[in-house]
Amino acid sequence: MEPNAEAHEARIPDAEAAVPMASGGVASTPELQWSTPTQPVERIERLHAAAQSRPSGGDGRQFAADHRSAPVKSAAHDSAQRPSARTGLDQDASGERARRIATLAWDDLEADIRECRACVLCERRSQPVPGVGDRRARWMLVGEGPGAEEDLRGEPFVGQAGRLLDNMLGSIGLKRGDDVYIANAVKCRPPHNRTPEAGEVAACLPYLERQIDLVQPRLLVALGRPAAQALLGSEVRIGAARGKLFAHRGIPVVVTYHPAYLLRNPQDKGKAWEDLCFARHCMQASPSA
Ligand code: URA
Repeated sequence: MEPNAEAHEARIPDAEAAVPMASGGVASTPELQWSTPTQPVERIERLHAAAQSRPSGGDGRQFAADHRSAPVKSAAHDSAQRPSARTGLDQDASGERARRIATLAWDDLEADIRECRACVLCERRSQPVPGVGDRRARWMLVGEGPGAEEDLRGEPFVGQAGRLLDNMLGSIGLKRGDDVYIANAVKCRPPHNRTPEAGEVAACLPYLERQIDLVQPRLLVALGRPAAQALLGSEVRIGAARGKLFAHRGIPVVVTYHPAYLLRNPQDKGKAWEDLCFARHCMQASPSA
């Protein structure tokens, strides 16, 4: 196992991503199996109770009772405000762009994403991958960025990690497209499936923010570290953040491992299942669930 698995958790290297598309046998390969383990429900309930009893405020990111956490700051959020060698946009232009994106309706938003050249990721993409699913979903899942298959097909999570994600969703009674919207922190594939850089996440953040505004989910699930950092606006270690309830602009956020990490570290699938059960508890406890 890698010394610091969390730092690399989300990406499938190209070689691994070259798994054939689902054609019968693929979905049943052991690495994609998501048998629902017999989990200690008490532990999940304990996590939930602990999250609910935490004082609001705290570090400013954990879920506040009044759901009104202040806008958070992060490398990504900060760098969105600075002149960027990557985007060539100065602070005013970045702010102007973000304000413009914040007004777009779905069709214009997706068209804007398809035209976007705000960072270097546009240079090698086959196509941008805006997002997919139910635009009025209560559940919104956020991944890191498209991989090889997503880049070709234009839809998030359609590769091997996506098939595991579908199995994970199924284990808590959810289905892609049905009360679930899936997006990524960056909309264009990073070359060689590298982790997107902070400036790239920052350049794409207005799109993710607008998607969240339009969907208005009841719960956000961050899949892996880059997604969690984009949503929470600070450094995140998944191992430390699991089982806690955070907020992104008033919307509860649950953090879990990225499916690609789970493909490489199947011993952590049980933890991810706990996280999904925790998310489901949070959803059920949500006032207007
Ligand atoms: N990994 C992600 O984070 N997103 C995708 O869409 C595919 C793989």
